[in-house]
Amino acid sequence: MSESLFFTISSLRHTILSTSKIILSAADLQITEKTSAKDLVTQYDRQVQERLIAAISELVPGAEFVSEESAEKGNIKADDTFIIDPIDGTTNFIHQMGNCAISVAWYKHGEPFYGAVYDPNADEFFEAKAGEDALLNGKPIHVSDAPLGNSIVLFGTAPYNPELTDLTFELLRKVFGKCQDIRRMGSAALDICHVACGRAGLYFEATLSPWDYAAAALILKESGGSLVNLSGQEVRLSLEKTSVVAGNMNIIAESGIISKQK
Ligand code: IPD
Ligand code: CA
Ligand code: CA
Repeated sequence: MSESLFFTISSLRHTILSTSKIILSAADLQITEKTSAKDLVTQYDRQVQERLIAAISELVPGAEFVSEESAEKGNIKADDTFIIDPIDGTTNFIHQMGNCAISVAWYKHGEPFYGAVYDPNADEFFEAKAGEDALLNGKPIHVSDAPLGNSIVLFGTAPYNPELTDLTFELLRKVFGKCQDIRRMGSAALDICHVACGRAGLYFEATLSPWDYAAAALILKESGGSLVNLSGQEVRLSLEKTSVVAGNMNIIAESGIISKQK
């Protein structure tokens, strides 16, 4: 990697760390409903987004952006596209539950180049450059190779898509009988990173948007895991929503939640 790209990534890391202070010092939240009473945004989601886009635009002139709270969605196949979730886990953030994150993915010509997911409450920085080890606070991480029966399974409720509630809980019922226990943590990006570092064996959610998984997908890949949809196909970055299952291929097969029909 060139010295200038190395410098840009290190500046990006600093930008994410400094921007996260907005999340830690938040007070007097103004909460607005988006598509339903389950789908919320605060002034801090927007502030984090604005700060990141302004700083990244200086670091990588001409970059395109796909960011959750911005109406305009950039070209995901551009030379440089940043896919941003300013706060992943807004509902946790609103209820002071911790477990929320800033997620920033850098794609070049539609291919993942760098991904960072930072949990400011836990001070955990997950990151990966394409072709290199995934790291948690600078140390290499790997997916677990434990069987499903000895693993925790994470899931998301696809809360903004009530038509997927029955499917979600059918899949959950199926996998609960085979695993050690289940958890609903509330941040898809962190869920995938928790699989990447071996804390959980599997994570699934019936639908996600690109900003939920774009950075964590690279972190998972470089830690030895796979991100597939509920039909078993590899998840590739797209502006369309997709189902996701994260884990190593053995545990994904063992879970029995992949169906060629879905
Ligand atoms: C949500 C969280 C949640 C997941 C939802 C996501 P947001 O993102 O990741 O865990 O279940 O599907 O949309 O809205 O907090 O950025
Ligand atoms: Ca999100
Ligand atoms: Ca968000």
